[in-house]
Amino acid sequence: MSGEAATEVAPAKLTLTLRVLGTRPDGFHELEALTVSLDAPADSLAITNGDAPGVRLTVGGPAGTGVPGGASNLVARAAERILPDGAGVDIRLDKHIPSGAGLGGGSSDAAAVLRHGITVWGVGRDAAMEAAAAIGSDIPFCVDGGPAWMRGRGERLDPVILPAVVTVVVAVPPFALATPAVYRAWDELGEPGGRTVAPPDALAPVVDALVNDLEPAAEHVEPRLTPFRRDLEAATGRPALLAGSGSACWVPCADPDEARWARERVGARLRVAAFVGQSVT
Ligand code: C5P
Repeated sequence: MSGEAATEVAPAKLTLTLRVLGTRPDGFHELEALTVSLDAPADSLAITNGDAPGVRLTVGGPAGTGVPGGASNLVARAAERILPDGAGVDIRLDKHIPSGAGLGGGSSDAAAVLRHGITVWGVGRDAAMEAAAAIGSDIPFCVDGGPAWMRGRGERLDPVILPAVVTVVVAVPPFALATPAVYRAWDELGEPGGRTVAPPDALAPVVDALVNDLEPAAEHVEPRLTPFRRDLEAATGRPALLAGSGSACWVPCADPDEARWARERVGARLRVAAFVGQSVT
């Protein structure tokens, strides 16, 4: 029996500081990243029990162009893994988080389905977390969200309490980056370290400095990233950091008023999409 749609929100994730510690025997990289979930941008999923068995996914929304609606989508893969035998589900995914930006949109969408599986389909938490890690490195984080330190491949999570809400502006350039290419470049460039940036007051008790070790690799893969980051810094008067493996960059702001001002400046000067985001606890 089909019924009412349940809504699951899938927030963007943002790495505030990201160290790559080395390459592992399985080819993945050992990480240490302080990561938050942001209130914006966020995707949403409308999930309805279906009459016919199987998973049906449709994708829309302002960031939905080019996002596959078929079985290759992480949402469909997550649902296939945990859907009870013989059951069916219709999922409408409304995309606001840009793809290839390093904001974990696809991972967060898949995690939203896993949360729905736990709360509505009665899937065990261990089984859901196992499915999360099998589908993608960032998905275990996204099941519960941040703030947390991500370690290992990303699946070892230590929740943290931040002393204050972190407010940021995230700017999205008109080009995307593929995560595997950025990690490959990090290996080929001899494991470079990123620039360090002083943390905003809200993070000073937690970390000495902010860094993203993937930044030199991302700027090597996509040379337009370097002027983009510098333009963002010039427009906001703040240091900018790469989000995850890019291509989005973000600046820490003192408060929402400054962030809204910075977003206007970024929109006017760089003519790209920019979001004001706040960490959710
Ligand atoms: O796990 P996921 O499929 O999201 O990872 C995408 C790619 O990012 C991997 O294929 C790998 O190249 C890279 N990666 C990595 N080390 C991590 C996470 C991701 O090398 N800890």
